[in-house]
Amino acid sequence: MSDGIAAALSVAGVPAPGTSATEGATAPGTARHARITGWGSYAPSAVLTNADLERIVETSDEWIVSRTGIRERRVAAAHETTASMAAVAGARAIAVAGLDPDEIDLILVATLTPDYWMPSTAALVKEAIGNTRAAAMDVAAACSGFVYAYATAHAYVTAGMARHVLVIGAELLTRFLDYTDRSTCILFGDGAGAVVVSVSDGPAVPHGVELTTEPSGAYMIWLPAGGSKSPPSAATVSRGEHFIRMEGRETYRFATKTLASTALAAIAKAGLRPDQIDLFIPHQANIRIIEAVAKGLGLPMERMFVNLDRYGNTSAASVPLALAEAVDAGRIRQGDKVVIVAFGAGFTSGAVAFEWTADPAAGARAAAIRPDEIRVRLPVDWDSVDPIPPQLAAVLAAPGPVVVPLDDVVPGEPPARAPVS
Ligand code: ACO
Repeated sequence: MSDGIAAALSVAGVPAPGTSATEGATAPGTARHARITGWGSYAPSAVLTNADLERIVETSDEWIVSRTGIRERRVAAAHETTASMAAVAGARAIAVAGLDPDEIDLILVATLTPDYWMPSTAALVKEAIGNTRAAAMDVAAACSGFVYAYATAHAYVTAGMARHVLVIGAELLTRFLDYTDRSTCILFGDGAGAVVVSVSDGPAVPHGVELTTEPSGAYMIWLPAGGSKSPPSAATVSRGEHFIRMEGRETYRFATKTLASTALAAIAKAGLRPDQIDLFIPHQANIRIIEAVAKGLGLPMERMFVNLDRYGNTSAASVPLALAEAVDAGRIRQGDKVVIVAFGAGFTSGAVAFEWTADPAAGARAAAIRPDEIRVRLPVDWDSVDPIPPQLAAVLAAPGPVVVPLDDVVPGEPPARAPVS
């Protein structure tokens, strides 16, 4: 290539051939291990409580809490999208890793609620975080998506195809729910979580991956219309085929069986025993599923990290959101053995057992990333529509009374349920 062409490419911000982010990232012969070096999350500030849902469908706080463990979930604001939430979580993970955004070689976004069919949400995230080099793509494995994407990142790094991979799980599910179907609309919420997986020449640490897909469950959780089998039309919309549908009992049965077997397989591949695992980060779908898995593994619930009471099921975001929260809350320390494990539509399932090596104190660096400073570029002349479903908009505009137990109220302190970000 002539110097003139190289200079022109450089001015245009295009990497010159031979300098693409995923090529020749590590010298041949170098020992390559992969570690999580950064983590971060983002949850929108609007809270939708079970009491709010009682005003939309025939349900009760008692039913939702006893059947699922969920008390509230977050709802993205009108200006937010999956990409914008993903970009904030991703930028936080990069800050925690102590990297410049341009050091990221590959961006993977696991989501079932992309901003658009195309481009990928990962492409939008790349621009929003100020990265000019990375390859970017989405990963579609529903609620298992983050675990699948993490496994992909690990493979890229250990194969020498990337030095730093940003792995994000992000979902904006509240815009894909049927607010006349009480069996699904109470379950899901919005949010994002991310990690950076980096190359390391340190000693090998335990690491095992197990990914499975059971297509007999393909239509147990699905979104019927909008794809090539049934393109979107007035008729599909009038039939509500653009909303998530689920066979709850079948899904529950699959989840309790598969979460445990997938976790066990990953633990065995890491050369560990279940009793050596310090903390499980399970997909946050239902407290009863998590309790059943703990029982099946013969472990106490203290080994299971749970935050579904505050976020509901955030699908691909649930594991990284919980992982970031667990590290920042001091539940994971250097040297701890951790398992991330998820199940979801497909039916997919995935687990990774690994040793945590990063300094949890680095999590404080995430505070440098302010959500209002990260912007996802919109199309020119974008015809702005209000994306919030009308039932949600009505409830959020006139919130019901917040019931805070009296013993939670400390004079002079903010309310117990102040937004986290
Ligand atoms: N409020 C009150 N009653 C309700 C509600 C509600 N929100 N939802 C359902 N019911 C009723 C039903 O109509 C039914 O009434 P009936 O007996 O008169 O017919 C009764 O409660 C029992 O319904 P079930 O569906 O049997 O309730 P179940 O105990 O199975 O709980 C639930 C339902 C919570 C959905 C459970 O099946 C579950 O958690 N399944 C797994 C779901 C899951 O994890 N999905 C995530 C998949 S991840 C992904 O990839 C998107």
